[in-house]
Amino acid sequence: MKIHNKNYRTIWPCANGKALNIIDQTRLPFAFEIIEISNLPAMIKAIKTMQVRGAPLIGVAAAYGLALSLLNENTEVALYQAAKDLIASRPTAVNLAWAMQRMLPKLTKLPLNERVSAAWQEAMQMAEEDVLQNQQIAMYGLDLIKRAYKNQPLNILTHCNAGWLATVDHGTALAPIYAAHDAGLSIHVWVDETRPRNQGSSLTAWELAQHGVPHTVICDNAGGHLMQIGQVDMVIVGADRVTKNGDVCNKIGTYLKALAAFDNDIPFYVAVPSPTIDLQLNDSSQIQIEQRSNDEVAYMQGLSEDGNLQSIRIMPVESMAINPAFDITPARLVTGIITEHGVCAPNQLMKVA
Ligand code: MRU
Repeated sequence: MKIHNKNYRTIWPCANGKALNIIDQTRLPFAFEIIEISNLPAMIKAIKTMQVRGAPLIGVAAAYGLALSLLNENTEVALYQAAKDLIASRPTAVNLAWAMQRMLPKLTKLPLNERVSAAWQEAMQMAEEDVLQNQQIAMYGLDLIKRAYKNQPLNILTHCNAGWLATVDHGTALAPIYAAHDAGLSIHVWVDETRPRNQGSSLTAWELAQHGVPHTVICDNAGGHLMQIGQVDMVIVGADRVTKNGDVCNKIGTYLKALAAFDNDIPFYVAVPSPTIDLQLNDSSQIQIEQRSNDEVAYMQGLSEDGNLQSIRIMPVESMAINPAFDITPARLVTGIITEHGVCAPNQLMKVA
């Protein structure tokens, strides 16, 4: 993705081969900062604090994290402990476990002295695959958009951030939108702000603005109303885990948008690369929903008039808050799943995954 006319990915190895560069997503949209991650604790912290976030990106970040851990301590015990800690850093997205399940068997069959470079190679390979998968998702999603297009602006609603910032590049839900815009179709995106972390207003809106895609930020409560008055033609979201039966676990609030879309007969698509599909779970009942700090609900962050990032409390100090970070959209509310292999009904996942 181009930022100020320069191509960036969200994560890339430093020239010395001993550290990684990431875009610090907690600083966006007000500052574009690249930081260096040079050890396992720093990578775990980056994932937990959401300096890197989005299911596909944290999968790749975890793979690199494992490679970094070997630079510090190359033993069997340390390797398994690092994998366990990385998986636990954010429990809901299946991509972390997927990354470790792919790295560990490859590494453990090698002698210790070959593991560092093998880990690094495998992580780089996973990053490349993510880019290719998202390019395919863009192509299949573009077909859907073209079929819905009636030579007048098509209004697509999205929730959270499933753009290039949530992946290594291109994005999942936003990839077809970029492709449609680049193909000359008139697309307008309704961007749910996505409280409490505001991935919509701070990340999706920023990405779309960088790419010149027309968009409007709405508060999370406005989507249903816009659907009722005919202002939404299609919903596309990403996911953190999709189970075998087609249930979709995604950012908190997705379920409400799916209900409203269903009630208004609006197609509701979910764009996911195959590493986000969890065929080991028959349905969503066993997914662990991440509970994040209540402070994310109690406080809001923004830019003050003097240009400083500020955090302000928005509720009484006596009041309690809870902060479940994801919810489940049952398969029956999903029109189709867009993967790198094509588009399918949610109950047909086994055929494409
Ligand atoms: O908590 P986050 O920001 O890591 O959650 C990410 C999401 O829920 C995205 O909406 C998403 O669809 C998965 S990433 C393509």
